[in-house]
Amino acid sequence: MSASDTDLKLDRVHELRAEVERHNRAYYELDAPTVSDADYDALFRELQALEVAHPELRAPDSPTQRVGGRVLDAFAQVVHAVPMLSIQTETDTGASGAASFDARVRKELELAANAPAVEYVAELKFDGLAVSLRYEQGVLTQGATRGDGLRGEDVTQNLKTVRDIPLRLQGDADKIPPLLEVRGEAYMRRDDLARYNEQAKARGEKPLVNPRNGAAGSIRQLDPTIAGRRPLKFFAYGIGAYDVGLMPEWDLPSTHAELLDALAAFGFPVCAHRAVVQGAEALADFHERMGALRPQLPFDIDGVVYKVNSLERQRRLGFRSREPRWAVAHKYPPEEARTTVEAIEVQVGRTGAITPVARLAPVFVGGVTVTNATLHNEDEIRRKDVRVGDTVIVRRAGDVIPEIVSVALAARREGATVFALPQTCPECGSGVVREEGGTIVRCAGGLVCPAQVKGALLHFAGRRAMDIEGLGDKLVEQLVEAALVKTPADLYALTPLQLATLERMGEKSAENLLNAIDNSKASSLARFIFALGLRNVGESTARDLARHFGKLDALQAADADALMQVPDVGPVVAESILDFFAEAHNREVIARLIEAGVHWPETAGRIDAPPGPLSGKTFVLTGTLPTLKRDDAKTLIETAGGKTSGSISKKTDYVLAGSEAGSKLEKARELGVTVIDEAELQKMLEKTGKIPS
Ligand code: IVH
Repeated sequence: MSASDTDLKLDRVHELRAEVERHNRAYYELDAPTVSDADYDALFRELQALEVAHPELRAPDSPTQRVGGRVLDAFAQVVHAVPMLSIQTETDTGASGAASFDARVRKELELAANAPAVEYVAELKFDGLAVSLRYEQGVLTQGATRGDGLRGEDVTQNLKTVRDIPLRLQGDADKIPPLLEVRGEAYMRRDDLARYNEQAKARGEKPLVNPRNGAAGSIRQLDPTIAGRRPLKFFAYGIGAYDVGLMPEWDLPSTHAELLDALAAFGFPVCAHRAVVQGAEALADFHERMGALRPQLPFDIDGVVYKVNSLERQRRLGFRSREPRWAVAHKYPPEEARTTVEAIEVQVGRTGAITPVARLAPVFVGGVTVTNATLHNEDEIRRKDVRVGDTVIVRRAGDVIPEIVSVALAARREGATVFALPQTCPECGSGVVREEGGTIVRCAGGLVCPAQVKGALLHFAGRRAMDIEGLGDKLVEQLVEAALVKTPADLYALTPLQLATLERMGEKSAENLLNAIDNSKASSLARFIFALGLRNVGESTARDLARHFGKLDALQAADADALMQVPDVGPVVAESILDFFAEAHNREVIARLIEAGVHWPETAGRIDAPPGPLSGKTFVLTGTLPTLKRDDAKTLIETAGGKTSGSISKKTDYVLAGSEAGSKLEKARELGVTVIDEAELQKMLEKTGKIPS
């Protein structure tokens, strides 16, 4: 092919791409098709044919790339360059919710009582799935789910099918940042979902339960053609990592509102229901207005989000564990519905806790059909006076277990009996003990109780623990019932032959399960500790323990005093930890797990640190910093991949010193360690994403 021939083809390809994208926008965004389906198909096929015939003309941002990816076996893992944080929820759903957030912000910013009102951006809180889109040189290269905030799943192929998401950033070449991660929500409109469900039913397929599950389920489909058929949409609301290259300072946004405008200019849908407002009253007003508008919105929201507008102030406010201090979610009261209690049964959890559960006549509330509600404990049943046959008000908020709000006493039938917890465990017949002073009743059966064993295994395999994909309820039940697995360590000894004895377990599923178990061996200390299921040790405490002790041996050898050195570990948690490791059986399970090949990188410092601009660098902090709180400086360093330590040695790379830095500063000078100030730290973090969203 001659050079001019190639040029001609290239021109045609560009023309076709622009035209197809234009029709796409008209069809999907404006709901106003500009060509017939047949004409559109013809254009699309011409483009596809040219790209197939001339691979050199292919491009990752061609509209042909939105469809036709291959079916995956599993999603690859993505480490977020900047963690995807969660957002604190204001518990007070009334107007005072906005006031308490504003008061906190003013206090943290040390504003005088007569200082002007703080400027905020108020947005909607979309009820879908958080995703992160990575653009390199303006081209969409990766799309990921939030996962646990540090690591998500690579769902690029599926996100490319979302027509709302630009495959290439719009705008002049000199305004395109070399790197930009856009954060936002993938969601479904209610009307789109209804239409999709009608067609699905006609095809004999299962309908989607609600828009939120629909969005989340579609994005986590291994076959991208399935996601491509679902009516997914996207709203951008923030950014993650970025590199602005040589762009001049004055071209960069200095407020969140400007940032949103910039995202819109790049071609992202940014929801029009947003406002820049001053002070708490205006926030409360937005909350109320959007609450009134909520039923008419085409998509689901579960609240509004307030964000401090100034990016400089956002930096100063920083973070508290995994949540920014500069943002808050102000929810709406959860939806309620009436139904009847058909029975009250008890469940035995992984710690043996026996909880009563109400079986309800099915009722649609909060976007799903509810058939169970937790009753927490006996005292709670008595307080609410729930009896079998009662008419009750139930409520469901977000993903939490539905609960009974109250009983409609007027509708109670005569002779309804009061419920009493059984005196023996319904699963294993062991006695039950009421925890001293507590309201919790536990089965004393421990490992002989199949319910506890199942619970412990499910917890161990959970996404936030060892993350054994596919090891769910049903499978755990089968494995325990067939006596193939008694402890987590037994999982690693399972053989294809043993699995073949299970019902509905094909060769392929068995292979998948064994692979998933094998893959889980490469873990982190934090996940491992969490997976063990120590009482009172949740995910965040497990992470703190891992970070503090660095090695499992060190944790196991720690006494109560040593344990209480860890942030948030008090006497109760310390005792739980000591009790756990004192149990010979637990130590044996741990030894067997390690023998089976479960491992993690051992470090003296932070575990799970994603790679970043400060990877491999150790910092020691001393003195008072001008704007950052010490914890925030630590978080910033660690989220950028660096480590922090309490004492200076030759291994220390930098000492971050503020005012009144004492002996550490001297020691740093003695050892010749580089001393930096806060401004220098900010510079090191600059351009690589210091504004996580
Ligand atoms: S900002 C640092 N803005 O809420 C702040 N989140 O816990 C990060 N969400 O699942 C989030 N609408 O996907 C932000 N306008 C909005 C949002 C929003 C919905 C979701 C988000 C995540 C959760 C945050």
